[in-house]
Amino acid sequence: MSAIVWNESLELGLPQIDEQHRRLVDRYNELAAAYRRREPDAELARRLGVLLDCTAAHFASEEALMAELDYEGLDEHREEHQDLLQRVGRFQVVLAEGRQTITLPVLQYLQHWLLGHMRGADGEFGKAARRLAAHALVAQPV
Ligand SMILES: [Fe+2]
Ligand SMILES: [Fe+2]
Repeated sequence: MSAIVWNESLELGLPQIDEQHRRLVDRYNELAAAYRRREPDAELARRLGVLLDCTAAHFASEEALMAELDYEGLDEHREEHQDLLQRVGRFQVVLAEGRQTITLPVLQYLQHWLLGHMRGADGEFGKAARRLAAHALVAQPV
């Protein structure tokens, strides 16, 4: 499973969010590298937990920024976030019970989701946020 290479197509132009996305990508890459090294299942599960915690914290911070900017796509965006957290959360339970292990399709799903979401829904928010910020700047009394 190849690593995610950070590139311009992933930059939103919002420093705080971009920084968090880079950290998420790092955590994902660490998990994928551990999988390639055939680390024990318990270690892979621990790394998945770290990625999930980091993801949940990032979602909360992204949604807070959306609320602050009155972003109209917040509800829809939050649903995408919730959907991922629920799916991975359910998977973690099965993992903890030893009924499943981390496999290539699991990593592919995570990578596909992260890249798709950052380029898609997060990209849309990035554009809107820059518009809203520019508008706020213009609307400020002198
Ligand atoms: Fe998002
Ligand atoms: Fe994001």
